[in-house]
Amino acid sequence: MAGSSFGNIFKISTWGESHGKGIGVVVDGCPAGLNLCEEDIQKYLNRRKPGQSKYTTPRSEDDMVEILSGVFEGKTTGTPISMVVFNKTQRPSDYTQIANYYRPGHADYTFDEKYGFRDYRGGGRSSGRETIGRVAGGAVAALLLEELGIKVNAYTKSIGNVSIDYDRFDLAMRDSNPVSMPDEEAAKLAAELLDNKMADLDSVGGVIECVVTGMKSGIGEPVFEKLDANLAKAIMSIGAIKGIEVGAGFEVATKSGSNNNDSFTTDSEGNVIKRTNYAGGILGGISDGSDIVLRAAVKPTPSIFKEQKTINRSHEDIDIKIKGRHDPVIVPRAVVVVEAMTAITILDMLLLSMTSTVSKIKNFFKE
Ligand SMILES: Cc1cc2nc3c(=O)[nH]c(=O)nc-3n(C[C@H](O)[C@H](O)[C@H](O)COP(=O)(O)O)c2cc1C
Repeated sequence: MAGSSFGNIFKISTWGESHGKGIGVVVDGCPAGLNLCEEDIQKYLNRRKPGQSKYTTPRSEDDMVEILSGVFEGKTTGTPISMVVFNKTQRPSDYTQIANYYRPGHADYTFDEKYGFRDYRGGGRSSGRETIGRVAGGAVAALLLEELGIKVNAYTKSIGNVSIDYDRFDLAMRDSNPVSMPDEEAAKLAAELLDNKMADLDSVGGVIECVVTGMKSGIGEPVFEKLDANLAKAIMSIGAIKGIEVGAGFEVATKSGSNNNDSFTTDSEGNVIKRTNYAGGILGGISDGSDIVLRAAVKPTPSIFKEQKTINRSHEDIDIKIKGRHDPVIVPRAVVVVEAMTAITILDMLLLSMTSTVSKIKNFFKE
């Protein structure tokens, strides 16, 4: 299957199925000399791990990462970094029931149509577990970006109709509640909503917001490799994401030019800044130096315990009740995935932008 690689210079290739032997990533194009160890990656992976609250699958997976190559004496060597998480709890028997029918909202039907058969164990390649490789690769990108003073932070903005209040915004709270909200009060309301959804044997969606701080202007390649175009591709490639917006996003459709344009000015040191940031930090596909702000819409978990109508592989109408373990919401576990894909895209575009002028090339060659 083609399509498992992303990026130009900093490139990730994810591999593995939900219930295969293991799942992982090869990161190619990471510069040499970055301090990197398994704990750096594990911190990120722990944020997408199931079984951390009653809202995440109680499947007891360790998801411990091993770095197989590309790191020597605690530093990246410039060669491919291969990372694996071995699947410890392979229980394909949990999934044999789904082998013969198509779960609504899942990729079962389309995989069968395209390939003629599918690895039905937990959704195989279309499983949320595929994102382990993305998160491991994203952790490497985020570490390198941090060395440049660039930080990428994502969090839950809303679950169903419960949204965070920016007056109570506290990023430090994000990891201390089960819904990854940087607002404790909203987190409690979201938890109530999830309890109700679980009681109804149903699920709910939400919005993840991601902010990149410390950006400089000039990153992004017109026209087909625009920064926003690449971010959109990166985010939309994550399972269950059905929409993305940058800056004011879909709101621009109802705004006037006069209240959507960001006026330019300079700060006390003479640096060009914008008075507002409706553009979300990107103009003409190139970073403008403001924070990059994007939002991703996540659909409700497709596996619900309510009875549903579907068809079997012989196309007969049937009623099904999905068993197994499924989260009533995907949003909290996808937060770190959005962060990872954003970090990979920003780093890749930054590396691409290093050859944008003759003087930059001369500086590199003369050094
Ligand atoms: C981190 C993550 C975890 C997920 N966990 C589940 C899950 O527990 N149950 C489920 O039905 N879908 C889950 N999904 C979503 C499905 O993988 C996805 O909706 C399905 O493959 C169909 O793809 P599409 O929604 O992109 O069209 C998860 C997705 C992500 C990104």
